[in-house]
Amino acid sequence: MVFLKIDGIHHTYFTKNSATTALSDISLEVREGEFVSFLGPSGCGKTTLLSIIAGLIRPTEGTVSLENQPVHKLNNQIGYMLQQDYLFPWKSIKENILLGLKISNSLTEEKEQYAFNLLEQMGLGGFETQYPSQLSGGMRQRVALVRTLATEPKLLMLDEPFSALDFQTKLKLEDLVSDTLKTFGKTAILVTHDIGEAIAMSDRIFLFSPRPGRLHKTFEVPEQLKNLAPFQARNHEAYPELFQSIWKELENIEAK
Ligand SMILES: Nc1ncnc2c1ncn2[C@@H]1O[C@H](COP(=O)(O)OP(=O)(O)OP(=O)(O)O)[C@@H](O)[C@H]1O
Ligand SMILES: [Mg+2]
Repeated sequence: MVFLKIDGIHHTYFTKNSATTALSDISLEVREGEFVSFLGPSGCGKTTLLSIIAGLIRPTEGTVSLENQPVHKLNNQIGYMLQQDYLFPWKSIKENILLGLKISNSLTEEKEQYAFNLLEQMGLGGFETQYPSQLSGGMRQRVALVRTLATEPKLLMLDEPFSALDFQTKLKLEDLVSDTLKTFGKTAILVTHDIGEAIAMSDRIFLFSPRPGRLHKTFEVPEQLKNLAPFQARNHEAYPELFQSIWKELENIEAK
């Protein structure tokens, strides 16, 4: 069965005196348990597409369904970690990670324990009573991730979760996120500008071209890389070849 089906999406943003077509003719499918990346230049519509998949924006044309249900009718089955971390500064780490559960009225003792376990796994046990301003950027990103995972979504979407981090923190978090998602068998979509990150984390990579955003090419990550942790994948001999071919395609796109 198809898990996530994106079919014939067009999207135009209308304002009083302008119309911007952000996406044109996007169709793709994601299998259950698969990890895919959306890669492409700034402005090609990646965030728009995630917001459509999350059911937050209704597309001008086309449909998105998760397990054959239209996404705008779903409740709480899609976890969306936004491009900025959006932790609430006046709430403690504990309040922040339980927020999604509270809003959806599904906070139970068991779910609270699950969220605390995730926090522990992310190396943040003991930080529950602290506030976001007391944490580093990488720690805040981990808290945001725990908050997203705490509602146990069927599909997880991450919009450039590592882009504001230093390289070392980013590499460590890539391994941690990849390991956590594999453990829970989650289906995930990662948005990134970083070719290396896309290769290291994904099973498949969808490359988008801008103005309007179209699906330019799909890359299958070689089997040898899929089963490695991201850090190891970056050091594997099969890595540079795929990097080069994606790099070339990106140059083609940008030369147009
Ligand atoms: N709310 C909005 N109203 C009008 N136009 C918008 C809106 N949001 C995005 N756009 C336009 O839609 C296009 C796609 O934007 P989007 O944010 O989806 O791109 P992106 O690929 O996520 O870019 P980045 O990599 O910089 O985050 C851009 O041309 C942008 O100006
Ligand atoms: Mg974006």
